[in-house]
Amino acid sequence: MARKPSTKGSSNKMWGGRFSDRPDAVMEAINASISFDKKLYAQDIAGSKAHATMLAEQGILSKRDAKAILKGLDTILSEIEAGTFAFSAALEDIHMNVEAQLSELIGPAAGRLHTARSRNDQVAVDFRLWVKAQAEAMHLELGRLIDVLLDHAEAHAGTVMPGFTHLQTAQPVTFGHHCMAYVEMFARDRSRLADAIVRMDECPLGAAALAGTGFAIDRKATAKALGFREPTRNSLDSVSDRDFALEFLAVASICATHLSRLAEELVIWSTPQFNFVRMSDRFSTGSSIMPQKKNPDAAELIRAKTGRINGSLVALLTVMKGLPLTYSKDMQEDKEAVFDTAENLELAVAAMTGMVASMTINADAMKRAAGSGFSIATDLADWLVRETGLPFREAHHVTGKAVALAEKMGCGLEDLALEDLQKLNGKITRSVFDVLSVEKSVASRKSYGGTAPANVKRQAARWRRLRAKERRQC
Ligand code: ARG
Repeated sequence: MARKPSTKGSSNKMWGGRFSDRPDAVMEAINASISFDKKLYAQDIAGSKAHATMLAEQGILSKRDAKAILKGLDTILSEIEAGTFAFSAALEDIHMNVEAQLSELIGPAAGRLHTARSRNDQVAVDFRLWVKAQAEAMHLELGRLIDVLLDHAEAHAGTVMPGFTHLQTAQPVTFGHHCMAYVEMFARDRSRLADAIVRMDECPLGAAALAGTGFAIDRKATAKALGFREPTRNSLDSVSDRDFALEFLAVASICATHLSRLAEELVIWSTPQFNFVRMSDRFSTGSSIMPQKKNPDAAELIRAKTGRINGSLVALLTVMKGLPLTYSKDMQEDKEAVFDTAENLELAVAAMTGMVASMTINADAMKRAAGSGFSIATDLADWLVRETGLPFREAHHVTGKAVALAEKMGCGLEDLALEDLQKLNGKITRSVFDVLSVEKSVASRKSYGGTAPANVKRQAARWRRLRAKERRQC
């Protein structure tokens, strides 16, 4: 049987001394956060246990009371995990739900737990612990996405495809190089997460309501017990700072933007018109009316998730922007945005990882497209510069004329007759044809960071080494 924390009496048990009337139903509805902050139960209980242990160590709480409190908190943890805990909106939030149940379980000693503490530092520490764990999980999951991109990069270091600007064929690149571009993006997202984790690794517990406390607490001990590097240095900042959540949302928004760009490319590439990739059935859906359809729904949903994730960042920035120090109840609105973002980003990264790992690459279609649209025009211009000493601007002009001629004849640059090319510039020799192929084009782009297959292999190997090192370290 679910046990219901007692809310007996005419007013709230926690501050009943000052109040004689119960809150209005609407007040309760707008005020209660338990429907969503119950997600913080494990962090709340861990925070309370660290606090109680420290109070006992410091002689502020008797060993006996501390023992009863710790045991009661463990019971509550198992009740919540077993689904037998009755959460109550009348008790507002996770902190008061837990405390009320603790007093049901162990009696008056429960009332000593809140010594030298406030819900303000309590919620700050709970939420930080949650966001930090989530940032660490995201860091790990993005690593897996990088791994599957590296698989493609290695397998397709030499697979030519068109590189685009304005979504118009620009120059040939390799599919491996394209995958490596996303490896760079997601690696930056991970490094942003790692940076944010370093900054949020400070424990606000012990700031109490806002000004610190007169009790001889040991903040270093609670920080250590909860896995933080050190305690925060300013009590006012400790209870009013939500930068850690904002940073998480900002990183999530940038990451969602990267995911969305890749998702958009997969949507385009999986059309019959492009046909560069084939999505696995496991990540596609069919149409209820058109039997031939195979829709890249997962990619579309990943693209769409960016909307709510960006929305969450703007929502919390807006909540925080005009708040005077320190805590205001506005800050209770920090949680849902972050919870929703974490859940959806995690889902998006997992779906992207599965989709990328299971898709098949159509190298023939990529190659065909790579050669179309006069993608090797720059190679012709570069040849004119290198072999005939023409200034690039003039070479550009000559090549433009060659493109116009090929377009008129309905052929590629490589199909033009030598005599026709020589009419455009007398110094052109047969050796020009040596550079007029997509493979030669990509192989020639050996400049650092360029698309040459040798470069792609070197960069992929570099990231593999870094990933292996990372795995050894954890
Ligand atoms: N439920 C609150 C929140 O999430 C906890 C802090 C309440 N503090 C207060 N002074 N009312 O922000």
